[in-house]
Amino acid sequence: MSAPSDGLRGVVVGESTICDVQAEGKLYYRGYPIEVIADHATFEEVVYLLWYGKFPNVAEYAAFKREIAANAALPEGVLPILKSIPATANSMDALRTVVSALGMFDPDQGDNSPAANLRKALRLQARVVTAVAAIERHQQGLEPIAPCPSLGLAANFLYMLWGKDPEPLYVETIDKDLILHADHELNASTFAARVTVATHADLYSGAVSGIGALSGPRHGGAAEDTMNMLLEIGELDKVDAWVRPKLTGEKRTPIPGFGHAVYRAPDPRSNTLRDVSRRLGELHNDTKWYDMTVAIEKIVDELSNTAERLAAGKQGIYPNVDCFSATCYYEMNLSVRLYTPIFVMSRMSGWCAHMIEQYLPGQRIIRPRAEYVGTHDLPWVPIEQR
Ligand SMILES: CC(C)(COP(=O)(O)OP(=O)(O)OC[C@H]1O[C@@H](n2cnc3c(N)ncnc32)[C@H](O)[C@@H]1OP(=O)(O)O)[C@@H](O)C(=O)NCCC(=O)NCCS
Repeated sequence: MSAPSDGLRGVVVGESTICDVQAEGKLYYRGYPIEVIADHATFEEVVYLLWYGKFPNVAEYAAFKREIAANAALPEGVLPILKSIPATANSMDALRTVVSALGMFDPDQGDNSPAANLRKALRLQARVVTAVAAIERHQQGLEPIAPCPSLGLAANFLYMLWGKDPEPLYVETIDKDLILHADHELNASTFAARVTVATHADLYSGAVSGIGALSGPRHGGAAEDTMNMLLEIGELDKVDAWVRPKLTGEKRTPIPGFGHAVYRAPDPRSNTLRDVSRRLGELHNDTKWYDMTVAIEKIVDELSNTAERLAAGKQGIYPNVDCFSATCYYEMNLSVRLYTPIFVMSRMSGWCAHMIEQYLPGQRIIRPRAEYVGTHDLPWVPIEQR
């Protein structure tokens, strides 16, 4: 058996053609650099790319968007389940429940063939956006708004939240944000989804596993934590006094929105959102949250990326994708509880791509080993004598 690993760091558990994450700060979806995709593609084109391995042509794109629009409404049976969820519930718990319920209303339930899996992926992707908006409105005591068939996923999300045509920069922001979060190789939630469907459980079970794994603050919850940190700090002139002690004490406290388990260089997704966050602040004549984040970045860089630390083999600490997505969401006035569910809307595309790949012939059940470090051959002691 191989040596015990530290959180499976560096362990390659299989091959994939979907996404390449490189420690030196490079990210590719199906061979395309993320910066090029974020500059030119729409989220729907990216979903198609992840699932079919190529960008759609004009006819394929139009048909794909039509299919998404035709499947975006929540099945009638799911609405009472959604409305029975306490308005005070954690939004990721609520989303996990609704996505689980969606599986029971899928007409392909019980069919895990490649064609059925693609149809299920499309329904999951289309409906998760509707579900996130409906849950948020339910938490605000409002009725859900049905999806508008003429809008893409990003615009529809904002329309279903607010019931009005969204500001173009907001649509662009959500679209770019969805693209940048769409896939990231074997991150914890994608691995969880793949492990689940490797047993030949259905895509909904895999999606629910993914949502559970993504909900933690070390993974999808980081944008929420980043914003809560900014709100706690409150003002630009308080940043230094708040951040510096966290990185200079005996034990460093991780700053939310910074650091990454794989990248040892700046996260290639963070620059696009940095730019959008600044533009959103400028649109509102208030760049406070953007400015605070940039100020935090300077201190983290000064105290983490020193020559001594790097020479000692410590990793460089830079903003990750959640750093500026937090301020983007806040600048659009989205509830902080929506941040992680928005991540789900995006990562659903990557989970589905990976689950479809995991279903390919020849893929085995994922079954690692643990090195047992407990004791053996203990004597039986009757309950009265324990
Ligand atoms: C993402 C994360 C869990 C990766 O953790 P990891 O690869 O296991 O890295 P480690 O926790 O082993 O940290 C390695 C070193 O980097 C430092 N470091 C890691 N993340 C840091 C952060 N966010 N802020 C400051 N220092 C950080 C650690 O203090 C440690 O230094 P030390 O050995 O001197 O104590 C971690 O960076 C983190 O908790 N970040 C904040 C949460 C977040 O934004 N998550 C979203 C990721 S996309």
